Amino acid sequence: MFEIAPSILSADFTRLGKEIAEIEKGGATVLHFDVMDGRFVPNLTVGIPVLKSVRKFTKMTIDCHLMIVEPSKYAVEFVKAGADMVSVHVEADVHLQRTLMAIREAGGKAGIAINPATPLIALEEALPYADFILLMSVNPGFGGQKFIPTSLDKLKRLRRMIDERGLSTRIEIDGGIDAANIHEIVEAGAEIIVAGSAVFGGGKPAEAVTELLEKGTVWA
Ligand code: DX5
Ligand code: ZN
Repeated sequence: MFEIAPSILSADFTRLGKEIAEIEKGGATVLHFDVMDGRFVPNLTVGIPVLKSVRKFTKMTIDCHLMIVEPSKYAVEFVKAGADMVSVHVEADVHLQRTLMAIREAGGKAGIAINPATPLIALEEALPYADFILLMSVNPGFGGQKFIPTSLDKLKRLRRMIDERGLSTRIEIDGGIDAANIHEIVEAGAEIIVAGSAVFGGGKPAEAVTELLEKGTVWA
């Protein structure tokens, strides 16, 4: 079973409510909310006030991807503002285990996001404290980038790493995913599939989500 998590970064923010209603109609169950600070990544996006509005509007699982420096300062604030899942980058937090525990204690699911060039071994010690891993398949900062091909092998190795330890940590993958590559990504063990431009780029978000769900389905 996998879920589609449309990234609202590629949505039309002047009609965000309608865009969210559309993706729900198409079968999306998770809403991916990209937070950028212009420091960890070279771009700025949205934060707590927009999250609060979105929370009032939808019952979907809200998944906040914090692409910010010093994420420990804000992670719990995002849970309090309505996020169900919060991920912090392993590259951004020197006290990662503490931040993950704080997210859990606040009632959220705690995730570790990892950049394409960061080795999986950087996750090892914190893995038992994470509910999910957000594997980046592009360098974070912008929507609409191309899937980095070596991410597929990294995904398979992450799947193995989690299974070998008998953990139930879920794998989310983010960046450059579309109807053409989703099948092999699901087959490789990803459970939450983020898609921004593939969902909102064509102007028909509901249909795009349904197509991703169909194309990603792995028949036994
Ligand atoms: C990139 C963001 C992604 C992005 C994905 O920094 O973390 O969530 O919105 O967009 P696509 O699916 O267009 O690569
Ligand atoms: Zn993201």
